[in-house]
Amino acid sequence: MELSTQKLIHTFGALADLGQEIAGRGDFTEMVRTSMHLLLGTLALRRGGVAECIDQGELRCVALWGLEPRLFTNFFIEESDKDQFLRGQASEYLLSNTATPNSFLNRNRDRLTEHEIELVLPMVVRDEVTGLVLLGRKASGEAFSADDFDTIRAMVRHIGVGIHTHRLLEQVAQRAEENRRLYEELRTIYRATVRAFAAAIDIKDKYTQGHSERVGRYSEIIARELGWNEDEVEGIQIAGYLHDVGKLVVDRDIINAPYNINAKESSELSRHPSAGYEILAPINHPYADIPLMAKYHHERLDGRGYPDGLVDEQIPLGAKIVSLADSFDAMTTDRPYRRRRSFEDVVQDLRQNSGKQFDPKVVAAFARAILKEVSGATKERRITKMLGKDYLQGENVPTLLTDLIADLSHKEAQKAQSRN
Ligand SMILES: [Fe+2]
Repeated sequence: MELSTQKLIHTFGALADLGQEIAGRGDFTEMVRTSMHLLLGTLALRRGGVAECIDQGELRCVALWGLEPRLFTNFFIEESDKDQFLRGQASEYLLSNTATPNSFLNRNRDRLTEHEIELVLPMVVRDEVTGLVLLGRKASGEAFSADDFDTIRAMVRHIGVGIHTHRLLEQVAQRAEENRRLYEELRTIYRATVRAFAAAIDIKDKYTQGHSERVGRYSEIIARELGWNEDEVEGIQIAGYLHDVGKLVVDRDIINAPYNINAKESSELSRHPSAGYEILAPINHPYADIPLMAKYHHERLDGRGYPDGLVDEQIPLGAKIVSLADSFDAMTTDRPYRRRRSFEDVVQDLRQNSGKQFDPKVVAAFARAILKEVSGATKERRITKMLGKDYLQGENVPTLLTDLIADLSHKEAQKAQSRN
């Protein structure tokens, strides 16, 4: 095999590898430089440069060997030049061809001669000139042969495709970044709207100011303790904010009754989970299952809840979390007809109702989260702040929580055993 053919095969092999690297790696300029080096080496040229077309025909240097960067200062390609480059013959791109019709060469003849450029080739991708490759003369002093031109054109095309691919990837990355930003903005707007909505729900109920907001936060804390991912945690927080949205359709007097309401009023009030579902279901939420969490936040494990009397495994975990957060807030805030209950009392209620009203796993997770705060295992004081700083001060609070957690895990173990 002829030496030059071997060299060519070798070079193409190297370029094929480079092509992949150009597409995949961040070090794009280095890749173009190496491609250029290979091209110069294959043809024994002393100098060369690659320039890409940027805005309004400006040529920006991407790589150069043996050339001064000032060659590329204020260097432009015009639309009419591009047309000529798209249609031109190789011989028209030679500076030594003083009869060339190529307007770019003719316009820049002095500059190109000064920098000892002999040949200017367009990089054409999909019928568009994406840049130029500028080459000096051969070290041997010989003229370029027809074979040389074929080699050069193939390699220039390769570099052009590399640059084009790189640009496309950059555009894709830019679009993705824009989309991500837009999506973030939308989420921020959605969250702000939801919180405003939660505040509107709570205003209707004058005795439970801030209830929805707190249920959102408690739900989020429990879900995080259960190992939910950030998206799911955010989703359940929203569900917590909106769980009582159905109260907007319940008579304000029933919600605000300063006494235990009668059966008729109670049935009116118990419409609110289903009404909430009706309100939330048509909305396109960025998180899963929000309408269902609102619908089932008054269901109980023993089937005695409403609206559908579901049992344990039929109730979505999210709804169980919101249910606990809701009841916990109801027990730990003052109501018109009673003061809030002591923490000891609340723990007792949670213990008795685990497995009947509440899911023991969910109660245990909440107890662990509270314990982390009171024992100082975390610097967070979110639960403490919501309850007021004195509420969890009692010396017995850590013991109450550890006992509750132990009881619940004992119960869970027994349940698992009876299943087997
Ligand atoms: Fe409710």
